[in-house]
Amino acid sequence: MFHTGSPVKGDNFIDRKKHLPLFKAYLDNNQHIMIKAPRRFGKTSLVKHIFDYEKNYEYIYIDIRLNYSLESLTNQIINKAYELVKIKNFVKQVKDSMFNLLQSIKTITIPEVAELSIDYISKPSQPIELFIHSLDLVDKIANSKGINIKVIFDEFQDITNLYDKNILEVLRSVAQHHSNITYIFLGSIESIMTKIFESKSSPFFHFASVIQLDGLDIDELYNYTIKEFDKKDIKYDKDVLYKTIKLLQGHPEYSAKVLQTLYINAIINNSIIDEEKSLEAISYRVIENRAYLDEIISKLKTKKHHFELIYNLANDLQPTLTSATLYNTYISLADMGLIKKIEKGKYKIVDIFLEILLKQTDNRMLAFDNKLELKL
Ligand SMILES: Nc1ncnc2c1ncn2[C@@H]1O[C@H](COP(=O)(O)OP(=O)(O)O)[C@@H](O)[C@H]1O
Ligand SMILES: [Mg+2]
Repeated sequence: MFHTGSPVKGDNFIDRKKHLPLFKAYLDNNQHIMIKAPRRFGKTSLVKHIFDYEKNYEYIYIDIRLNYSLESLTNQIINKAYELVKIKNFVKQVKDSMFNLLQSIKTITIPEVAELSIDYISKPSQPIELFIHSLDLVDKIANSKGINIKVIFDEFQDITNLYDKNILEVLRSVAQHHSNITYIFLGSIESIMTKIFESKSSPFFHFASVIQLDGLDIDELYNYTIKEFDKKDIKYDKDVLYKTIKLLQGHPEYSAKVLQTLYINAIINNSIIDEEKSLEAISYRVIENRAYLDEIISKLKTKKHHFELIYNLANDLQPTLTSATLYNTYISLADMGLIKKIEKGKYKIVDIFLEILLKQTDNRMLAFDNKLELKL
């Protein structure tokens, strides 16, 4: 089936035949990794599938975006680190049940490190010091267990919002001493991730091997889809199905949404998937995403030239801006994660639904839950 709404793993995870072996080879060699891809391209699914479903590695998963401060991030790392030696809610225990905690740290192989953690947490200390301690702690736990621990930072580019830019330097300088940790950095804003990991002046330059996660492979997705459809005896026009998948450019979430609609409608109505059904399903899913897409569009309209440029891109129109303005606007749109450079001076819109929406000439159509102007 095609699952949407949250990261997928197990049977719902459509093979990333190109990416999985590379990712695992890096992991097995304790090579730090950076994975960049636009939002909803399956980064979290990829790590959930490998770590949570296949369960071959000890790991700590942290979503930076879900943290509101460096302290909350640090506490999460500390708690998860101690969970690996079977002590739960370490930070809370320091505050609420120190007696029990002192008993439990006697059972672990590195009680002196735990005493240090208690010290750090109970005394007023700089948040950055505690942050450094939390990662040193993970390294020491890994060392004491004779294993390598994978530390995953999801939406890593947001880390500078929790502190200041300096945090990158701090993290880089402590991380290089952690021989028992493999760091995995995931990020949705590709241009920022590129700046952090691939620009010479950045502390993280050359620290991690980069995996660019593209959309799902069209043929892989097509084969998965026909297998799922055949299981339920769903009838479909092969050519239409292939073209539909191709039009969605392997965008994992949008493909899953459209294919789910086709699958469910075909079962309910016992009908054959033809061109009309496919266009209906795409339209339905684009319109369903209107609130999100409209928000992007209004944001673009508040910035000079941004909307004009992306509209031109969607409709293959020649931009009329001067080259300096054009360049700056492209860079700004890329920093917003909305467009992507494909070759020198050439960009494409990352979000295929946004592109479809911008192609609509008759805006009145959009007011009704009607079909969009679309061709397969
Ligand atoms: N490998 C995959 N197989 C099937 N569906 C996927 C896959 N990767 C992503 N998806 C679909 O895309 C959606 C977004 O994936 P997610 O992993 O949350 O992306 P990201 O972390 O890059 O924002 C998922 O809810 C799912 O519907
Ligand atoms: Mg994610």
